[in-house]
Amino acid sequence: STSAFIFDLDGVIVDTAKYHYLAWKKLANELGFEFTKEQNELFKGVSRKRCLEILLDIGGITASQEDFDRWMVEKNEDYLEYIEKMDASEILPDVPKVLNFLKQKNIPIALGSASKNARPILEKVNLLSYFDAIVDGNDVTKAKPDPEVFLIAARKLNVAPEKCLVFEDAVAGIQAANNANMISVGIGDALVLSEADHNFNDFTEMSLDFLEGLMSTQA
Ligand code: G6P
Ligand code: MG
Repeated sequence: STSAFIFDLDGVIVDTAKYHYLAWKKLANELGFEFTKEQNELFKGVSRKRCLEILLDIGGITASQEDFDRWMVEKNEDYLEYIEKMDASEILPDVPKVLNFLKQKNIPIALGSASKNARPILEKVNLLSYFDAIVDGNDVTKAKPDPEVFLIAARKLNVAPEKCLVFEDAVAGIQAANNANMISVGIGDALVLSEADHNFNDFTEMSLDFLEGLMSTQA
């Protein structure tokens, strides 16, 4: 049965994709090309470094190491300005309901995110105290779909991977959960997240009975 829950951050707990998008778009425009919302989809769950590589590919730009490093810093500085203004109103619907339900049942909760800004964001939206373990972009060497981020989270919670469930909005994140031998729950478009064990458009569509069921299943 499921005895621990791991949440992705961006796109599951908060919708920060729009801020990532604005910051990447600004950089693209400065470099003289367009960056669309559709292209931004490719950036979900993908590390900052890899995102910049893809962005430069889109713009057909070859960068020196110095340029690359500078643009990484610049993008993040812009992104941080948006995060600075975040508050609890930006928490996605029914996330607190699910977190409170798990807390009340004393179920261990972890964060498993590719972002290096995960802690400040959780602080801003006032959810930091819910998490028994936080594993983020500062802790991993291998990006999703590699299972590393979720395996470290399971170890920190002291729970076997097979007993963990992961909430993810990115294809690479669902694959990482599956690769970790965990139950994967897609939050978002079921057609996009077709590899997930279960899928909901958002948490308002997921009943607490569903979680209860997974927690009591013999396995
Ligand atoms: C999440 C987001 C990605 C982002 C990555 C790194 O996975 O979905 O779009 O690129 O985190 O975020 P960071 O805050 O470290 O730049
Ligand atoms: Mg995500």
